[in-house]
Amino acid sequence: MSGLILDKVSKVYGEGDNRVAALNEVSLQVLPGEFVAVVGPSGSGKTTMLAVAGALLHPTSGKISIGGTDLNSLPKAAVTGFRLKHIGFILQSSNLVPYLTALDQLLLIGKLNKAGAKQSEQKARDLLANLDLKNRLDHYPEALSGGERQRVAIARALMSDPDVLLADEPTASLDSHRGQQVVEMLVREVKSRQKAAVMVTHDERMLDFCDRVIRIEDGSLVNI
Ligand SMILES: Nc1ncnc2c1ncn2[C@@H]1O[C@H](COP(=O)(O)OP(=O)(O)OP(=O)(O)O)[C@@H](O)[C@H]1O
Ligand SMILES: [Mg+2]
Repeated sequence: MSGLILDKVSKVYGEGDNRVAALNEVSLQVLPGEFVAVVGPSGSGKTTMLAVAGALLHPTSGKISIGGTDLNSLPKAAVTGFRLKHIGFILQSSNLVPYLTALDQLLLIGKLNKAGAKQSEQKARDLLANLDLKNRLDHYPEALSGGERQRVAIARALMSDPDVLLADEPTASLDSHRGQQVVEMLVREVKSRQKAAVMVTHDERMLDFCDRVIRIEDGSLVNI
């Protein structure tokens, strides 16, 4: 099955006194074209769930499948390439490369994916323009506001046209109007390109844009 599937996924950090069970047998299916919101208190395991779902972190147990590929079946050396091609991340901190301009942040993804230079440049410019960053193409991250950085990170996540989009509070440093615009744009991407999307948010107003809301408490999904 395509989309994103988590099957009884658990994650334990540390050992002994430092042991933290951050995720407890979380199961979730997100279909292509589906936009799922994740809510829950601070420390409940939301970021951990996204990191594990996106192959940034290895689960302690359980299975994850993306577009029909079981992540456990991938050789270690193939994980980075798989992630680059199939998963778009928007992290809680925008994680931009400090010495690359806004445009180059996106072009780097094109290069890593071995996409054509001309095509990549057009796509990068279009994405940045869609996020109102047309006049910031040559700015380095330190010369961007927090919200602008976040919008560059969103554009970058869409650059490789990934099957799965994982966003950790993508609207946290945006004002409500801009936040709404960004989420509307994400919804359009998800629907028109049939991506499976998961967005962590604390912002109640964003929930209306999502198909489904799930809640996580102490590492477990709870019904709402
Ligand atoms: N690298 C780590 N080592 C040990 N414990 C960790 C690590 N990362 C997170 N944790 C713990 O795992 C739990 C879940 O953390 P996580 O970052 O997933 O929470 P969250 O729901 O995203 O919280 P927030 O809303 O504050 O971002 C927390 O108790 C946290 O302290
Ligand atoms: Mg978090």
